[in-house]
Amino acid sequence: MINLLQPGAILIGADVVRALNPQSPQTRAIADLAAVVGIVMALIFAVVVGLVAYALLFFPRWREGEPDPGQGCGNKTIEIVWTAVPLGIVTALFILAARTMGISDPPPPPRPDIVVIGHQWWWEARYDSGAIVANEIHIPVGKPLALKLDSADVLHEFWVPELARKITTVPGHPNHIWIQADKPGTYLGFCSEFCGTQHAWMHFLVVAEPQEEFEQWERAQAAAALPPVAETAKKGLALFEQMSCVNCHAIKGTTASATVGPDLTHVASRKQLGAGIASNTPENLRRWLRDPQKMKVGAKMPDFKLTDEQVTQLAAYLETLK
Ligand code: CUA
Repeated sequence: MINLLQPGAILIGADVVRALNPQSPQTRAIADLAAVVGIVMALIFAVVVGLVAYALLFFPRWREGEPDPGQGCGNKTIEIVWTAVPLGIVTALFILAARTMGISDPPPPPRPDIVVIGHQWWWEARYDSGAIVANEIHIPVGKPLALKLDSADVLHEFWVPELARKITTVPGHPNHIWIQADKPGTYLGFCSEFCGTQHAWMHFLVVAEPQEEFEQWERAQAAAALPPVAETAKKGLALFEQMSCVNCHAIKGTTASATVGPDLTHVASRKQLGAGIASNTPENLRRWLRDPQKMKVGAKMPDFKLTDEQVTQLAAYLETLK
Protein backbone atom coordinates (compact mmCIF):
# COMPACT_ATOMS: atom_id res chain seq x y z
CA MET A 1 0.00 0.00 0.00
CA ILE A 2 1.32 3.45 -0.86
CA ASN A 3 1.48 5.91 1.98
CA LEU A 4 0.26 9.32 0.85
CA LEU A 5 1.79 11.27 3.76
CA GLN A 6 5.35 10.34 2.85
CA PRO A 7 5.47 9.67 -0.88
CA GLY A 8 7.04 6.30 -1.57
CA ALA A 9 6.87 5.03 1.99
CA ILE A 10 5.03 1.79 2.55
CA LEU A 11 2.54 0.91 5.20
CA ILE A 12 2.38 -2.60 6.50
CA GLY A 13 -0.64 -4.60 7.59
CA ALA A 14 -0.52 -3.66 11.26
CA ASP A 15 -0.76 0.06 10.50
CA VAL A 16 -4.39 0.25 11.49
CA VAL A 17 -5.41 2.01 14.66
CA ARG A 18 -8.04 0.07 16.57
CA ALA A 19 -8.88 2.23 19.57
CA LEU A 20 -12.16 0.45 20.36
CA ASN A 21 -10.91 -3.12 20.32
CA PRO A 22 -9.71 -3.97 23.85
CA GLN A 23 -7.41 -7.00 23.92
CA SER A 24 -6.24 -7.03 27.53
CA PRO A 25 -7.89 -6.97 30.99
CA GLN A 26 -6.59 -3.41 31.40
CA THR A 27 -8.17 -2.02 28.24
CA ARG A 28 -11.33 -4.09 28.72
CA ALA A 29 -11.85 -2.44 32.11
CA ILE A 30 -11.52 1.00 30.43
CA ALA A 31 -13.90 0.03 27.59
CA ASP A 32 -16.47 -1.35 30.06
CA LEU A 33 -16.37 1.86 32.10
CA ALA A 34 -16.76 3.91 28.91
CA ALA A 35 -19.82 1.81 27.97
CA VAL A 36 -21.45 2.21 31.41
CA VAL A 37 -20.76 5.97 31.49
CA GLY A 38 -22.09 6.27 27.91
CA ILE A 39 -25.34 4.49 28.85
CA VAL A 40 -25.83 6.58 32.03
CA MET A 41 -25.17 9.81 30.07
CA ALA A 42 -27.61 8.73 27.34
CA LEU A 43 -30.31 8.06 29.96
CA ILE A 44 -29.74 11.45 31.63
CA PHE A 45 -29.84 13.12 28.21
CA ALA A 46 -33.14 11.35 27.42
CA VAL A 47 -34.68 12.39 30.76
CA VAL A 48 -33.60 16.04 30.38
CA VAL A 49 -34.76 16.28 26.75
CA GLY A 50 -37.99 14.52 27.74
CA LEU A 51 -38.70 17.02 30.54
CA VAL A 52 -37.93 20.01 28.29
CA ALA A 53 -40.19 18.60 25.56
CA TYR A 54 -42.96 17.97 28.12
CA ALA A 55 -42.72 21.54 29.42
CA LEU A 56 -42.78 22.98 25.90
CA LEU A 57 -45.76 20.90 24.83
CA PHE A 58 -47.95 21.17 27.91
CA PHE A 59 -47.14 24.61 29.30
CA PRO A 60 -46.85 26.84 26.23
CA ARG A 61 -46.58 30.47 27.33
CA TRP A 62 -47.23 31.77 23.87
CA ARG A 63 -50.83 30.55 23.88
CA GLU A 64 -53.21 33.50 24.20
CA GLY A 65 -54.46 34.09 27.76
CA GLU A 66 -52.58 31.08 29.24
CA PRO A 67 -51.73 31.70 32.92
CA ASP A 68 -48.30 30.80 34.42
CA PRO A 69 -48.22 27.26 35.79
CA GLY A 70 -48.08 26.75 39.57
CA GLN A 71 -44.55 27.58 40.79
CA GLY A 72 -44.46 24.95 43.58
CA CYS A 73 -41.92 26.61 45.92
CA GLY A 74 -40.35 24.74 48.85
CA ASN A 75 -41.34 21.20 47.93
CA LYS A 76 -39.12 19.12 50.23
CA THR A 77 -39.73 15.81 48.45
CA ILE A 78 -38.68 17.21 45.08
CA GLU A 79 -35.60 18.87 46.55
CA ILE A 80 -34.49 15.68 48.28
CA VAL A 81 -35.05 13.64 45.11
CA TRP A 82 -33.13 15.98 42.81
CA THR A 83 -30.24 16.12 45.24
CA ALA A 84 -30.12 12.42 46.09
CA VAL A 85 -30.45 11.04 42.54
CA PRO A 86 -27.51 13.00 40.99
CA LEU A 87 -25.43 12.37 44.12
CA GLY A 88 -26.13 8.65 43.79
CA ILE A 89 -25.21 8.67 40.08
CA VAL A 90 -21.97 10.60 40.66
CA THR A 91 -21.01 8.35 43.59
CA ALA A 92 -21.65 5.19 41.56
CA LEU A 93 -19.57 6.54 38.63
CA PHE A 94 -16.79 7.53 41.04
CA ILE A 95 -16.67 4.01 42.50
CA LEU A 96 -16.67 2.45 39.03
CA ALA A 97 -13.91 4.82 37.87
CA ALA A 98 -11.77 4.06 40.93
CA ARG A 99 -12.26 0.32 40.33
CA THR A 100 -11.27 0.72 36.67
CA MET A 101 -8.15 2.65 37.65
CA GLY A 102 -7.22 -0.19 39.99
CA ILE A 103 -7.56 -2.77 37.20
CA SER A 104 -6.06 -0.76 34.33
CA ASP A 105 -3.26 0.91 36.26
CA PRO A 106 -2.11 -1.08 39.33
CA PRO A 107 0.94 0.18 41.26
CA PRO A 108 4.29 -0.65 39.62
CA PRO A 109 6.52 -3.44 40.97
CA PRO A 110 9.96 -2.56 42.42
CA ARG A 111 11.63 -3.66 39.17
CA PRO A 112 10.10 -3.08 35.74
CA ASP A 113 10.18 -5.87 33.13
CA ILE A 114 10.98 -3.46 30.30
CA VAL A 115 12.32 0.09 30.25
CA VAL A 116 10.89 2.08 27.35
CA ILE A 117 12.47 5.38 26.29
CA GLY A 118 10.88 7.81 23.86
CA HIS A 119 13.21 9.57 21.42
CA GLN A 120 12.60 12.02 18.60
CA TRP A 121 11.21 9.95 16.68
CA TRP A 122 11.47 6.36 17.71
CA TRP A 123 11.12 4.11 20.72
CA GLU A 124 13.83 2.24 22.57
CA ALA A 125 13.06 -0.77 24.75
CA ARG A 126 15.52 -2.35 27.19
CA TYR A 127 14.99 -5.79 28.65
CA ASP A 128 16.51 -7.22 31.83
CA SER A 129 18.30 -9.81 29.73
CA GLY A 130 20.34 -7.06 28.08
CA ALA A 131 18.32 -7.06 24.87
CA ILE A 132 17.93 -3.54 23.48
CA VAL A 133 15.46 -3.08 20.66
CA ALA A 134 13.85 -0.26 18.73
CA ASN A 135 10.24 0.20 17.70
CA GLU A 136 9.34 -3.46 18.17
CA ILE A 137 8.52 -4.69 21.66
CA HIS A 138 7.87 -8.39 22.13
CA ILE A 139 5.87 -9.65 25.11
CA PRO A 140 4.73 -13.10 26.22
CA VAL A 141 1.01 -13.58 25.66
CA GLY A 142 -1.37 -13.49 28.65
CA LYS A 143 1.21 -12.16 31.11
CA PRO A 144 1.17 -8.64 32.56
CA LEU A 145 4.51 -6.87 32.06
CA ALA A 146 5.50 -3.73 33.96
CA LEU A 147 6.91 -0.94 31.80
CA LYS A 148 8.94 1.96 33.07
CA LEU A 149 8.72 4.88 30.66
CA ASP A 150 11.21 7.67 30.24
CA SER A 151 12.12 10.16 27.54
CA ALA A 152 15.49 11.12 26.08
CA ASP A 153 14.38 14.55 24.92
CA VAL A 154 10.83 15.96 24.94
CA LEU A 155 7.38 14.80 26.07
CA HIS A 156 6.11 11.79 24.16
CA GLU A 157 3.10 9.62 24.81
CA PHE A 158 3.21 5.84 24.67
CA TRP A 159 -0.04 4.31 23.46
CA VAL A 160 -1.04 0.84 22.33
CA PRO A 161 -4.81 1.34 22.22
CA GLU A 162 -5.66 -2.36 22.27
CA LEU A 163 -3.41 -3.28 25.19
CA ALA A 164 -3.02 -0.47 27.71
CA ARG A 165 -3.92 3.06 28.73
CA LYS A 166 -1.81 5.84 27.26
CA ILE A 167 0.93 7.46 29.27
CA THR A 168 3.23 10.43 28.83
CA THR A 169 6.99 9.95 28.87
CA VAL A 170 8.60 12.82 30.74
CA PRO A 171 12.39 13.38 30.57
CA GLY A 172 13.88 12.49 33.96
CA HIS A 173 10.54 11.62 35.53
CA PRO A 174 9.77 7.94 34.88
CA ASN A 175 6.17 6.79 34.61
CA HIS A 176 4.86 3.24 34.79
CA ILE A 177 2.19 1.15 33.10
CA TRP A 178 1.27 -2.49 32.73
CA ILE A 179 0.93 -4.04 29.33
CA GLN A 180 -0.71 -7.35 28.51
CA ALA A 181 -2.25 -9.15 25.52
CA ASP A 182 -4.90 -11.88 25.66
CA LYS A 183 -4.10 -13.25 22.21
CA PRO A 184 -0.93 -13.64 20.16
CA GLY A 185 -0.66 -10.94 17.52
CA THR A 186 0.94 -7.71 16.40
CA TYR A 187 -0.50 -4.58 17.93
CA LEU A 188 0.15 -1.08 16.64
CA GLY A 189 1.35 1.55 19.08
CA PHE A 190 2.27 5.14 18.51
CA CYS A 191 3.19 8.44 20.08
CA SER A 192 0.06 10.40 20.92
CA GLU A 193 1.55 13.68 22.07
CA PHE A 194 2.97 16.15 19.58
CA CYS A 195 6.77 15.96 19.86
CA GLY A 196 8.12 17.61 16.71
CA THR A 197 8.38 17.18 12.95
CA GLN A 198 8.03 13.41 12.79
CA HIS A 199 5.60 12.92 15.67
CA ALA A 200 3.27 11.16 13.23
CA TRP A 201 5.98 8.62 12.41
CA MET A 202 6.74 7.45 15.87
CA HIS A 203 5.00 4.12 15.52
CA PHE A 204 6.00 0.89 17.16
CA LEU A 205 4.75 -2.67 17.21
CA VAL A 206 3.98 -4.82 20.21
CA VAL A 207 4.33 -8.47 19.26
CA ALA A 208 2.61 -10.83 21.69
CA GLU A 209 3.73 -14.43 21.33
CA PRO A 210 3.68 -17.68 23.33
CA GLN A 211 6.13 -17.75 26.25
CA GLU A 212 8.54 -20.12 24.50
CA GLU A 213 8.73 -18.04 21.32
CA PHE A 214 9.15 -14.91 23.38
CA GLU A 215 12.06 -16.39 25.35
CA GLN A 216 13.68 -17.51 22.11
CA TRP A 217 13.29 -14.02 20.69
CA GLU A 218 14.67 -12.39 23.83
CA ARG A 219 17.71 -14.69 23.91
CA ALA A 220 18.42 -13.94 20.26
CA GLN A 221 18.06 -10.18 20.79
CA ALA A 222 20.36 -10.22 23.83
CA ALA A 223 23.12 -12.04 21.95
CA ALA A 224 25.95 -10.17 20.23
CA ALA A 225 25.91 -9.79 16.46
CA LEU A 226 27.70 -12.52 14.53
CA PRO A 227 30.69 -11.36 12.49
CA PRO A 228 29.85 -11.19 8.78
CA VAL A 229 31.11 -13.91 6.45
CA ALA A 230 30.52 -12.59 2.95
CA GLU A 231 33.08 -10.20 1.46
CA THR A 232 30.63 -7.34 0.78
CA ALA A 233 29.19 -7.57 4.30
CA LYS A 234 32.70 -7.53 5.79
CA LYS A 235 33.41 -4.32 3.88
CA GLY A 236 30.10 -3.00 5.18
CA LEU A 237 31.13 -3.62 8.78
CA ALA A 238 34.52 -1.94 8.22
CA LEU A 239 32.73 1.03 6.67
CA PHE A 240 30.26 1.14 9.57
CA GLU A 241 33.10 1.29 12.09
CA GLN A 242 35.07 3.90 10.15
CA MET A 243 32.22 6.24 9.40
CA SER A 244 30.09 8.38 11.67
CA CYS A 245 27.57 5.52 12.08
CA VAL A 246 29.31 4.67 15.37
CA ASN A 247 28.66 8.17 16.76
CA CYS A 248 24.97 7.32 17.14
CA HIS A 249 24.43 3.56 16.87
CA ALA A 250 25.45 0.48 18.80
CA ILE A 251 26.00 -3.04 17.47
CA LYS A 252 26.86 -5.49 20.21
CA GLY A 253 29.99 -7.41 19.23
CA THR A 254 31.53 -4.47 17.33
CA THR A 255 33.20 -1.22 18.37
CA ALA A 256 29.90 0.65 17.91
CA SER A 257 28.36 1.41 21.29
CA ALA A 258 26.67 4.81 21.07
CA THR A 259 23.12 5.16 22.34
CA VAL A 260 21.85 8.24 20.51
CA GLY A 261 20.16 6.31 17.69
CA PRO A 262 18.51 2.90 17.61
CA ASP A 263 20.58 -0.13 18.62
CA LEU A 264 21.21 -2.04 15.39
CA THR A 265 22.48 -5.34 16.83
CA HIS A 266 19.52 -7.22 15.33
CA VAL A 267 18.09 -4.61 13.00
CA ALA A 268 17.38 -7.15 10.25
CA SER A 269 14.99 -9.05 12.51
CA ARG A 270 12.65 -6.08 12.78
CA LYS A 271 9.48 -5.68 10.78
CA GLN A 272 9.75 -1.95 10.15
CA LEU A 273 12.23 0.84 9.46
CA GLY A 274 12.19 4.43 10.65
CA ALA A 275 9.60 3.83 13.41
CA GLY A 276 6.98 2.53 11.02
CA ILE A 277 7.68 4.62 7.93
CA ALA A 278 8.47 1.57 5.80
CA SER A 279 8.56 -2.20 6.05
CA ASN A 280 12.04 -3.57 6.64
CA THR A 281 12.91 -4.93 3.20
CA PRO A 282 16.38 -4.87 1.60
CA GLU A 283 15.13 -2.29 -0.95
CA ASN A 284 13.76 0.01 1.75
CA LEU A 285 16.94 -0.34 3.79
CA ARG A 286 18.95 0.76 0.77
CA ARG A 287 16.61 3.70 0.22
CA TRP A 288 16.97 4.64 3.88
CA LEU A 289 20.79 4.53 3.72
CA ARG A 290 20.87 6.45 0.44
CA ASP A 291 18.96 9.37 1.99
CA PRO A 292 17.06 9.02 5.27
CA GLN A 293 15.80 12.61 4.89
CA LYS A 294 13.94 11.67 1.74
CA MET A 295 12.06 8.90 3.52
CA LYS A 296 11.57 10.66 6.86
CA VAL A 297 12.01 14.43 6.65
CA GLY A 298 13.66 15.82 9.79
CA ALA A 299 14.84 12.43 11.12
CA LYS A 300 17.98 12.81 13.23
CA MET A 301 19.98 10.70 10.77
CA PRO A 302 21.49 13.00 8.15
CA ASP A 303 22.03 12.24 4.48
CA PHE A 304 25.67 11.08 4.36
CA LYS A 305 25.77 11.16 0.53
CA LEU A 306 26.93 7.56 0.44
CA THR A 307 28.03 6.18 -2.89
CA ASP A 308 26.11 3.27 -4.43
CA GLU A 309 28.97 0.96 -3.50
CA GLN A 310 28.92 2.12 0.12
CA VAL A 311 25.15 1.67 0.30
CA THR A 312 25.49 -1.85 -1.08
CA GLN A 313 28.20 -2.77 1.42
CA LEU A 314 26.40 -1.26 4.43
CA ALA A 315 23.09 -2.82 3.43
CA ALA A 316 24.77 -6.19 2.92
CA TYR A 317 26.21 -6.00 6.42
CA LEU A 318 23.03 -4.72 8.13
CA GLU A 319 21.02 -7.49 6.44
CA THR A 320 23.19 -10.05 8.28
CA LEU A 321 22.07 -8.63 11.65
CA LYS A 322 19.15 -11.01 12.15
CU1 CUA B 1 6.82 11.38 20.22
CU2 CUA B 1 4.88 12.47 19.43
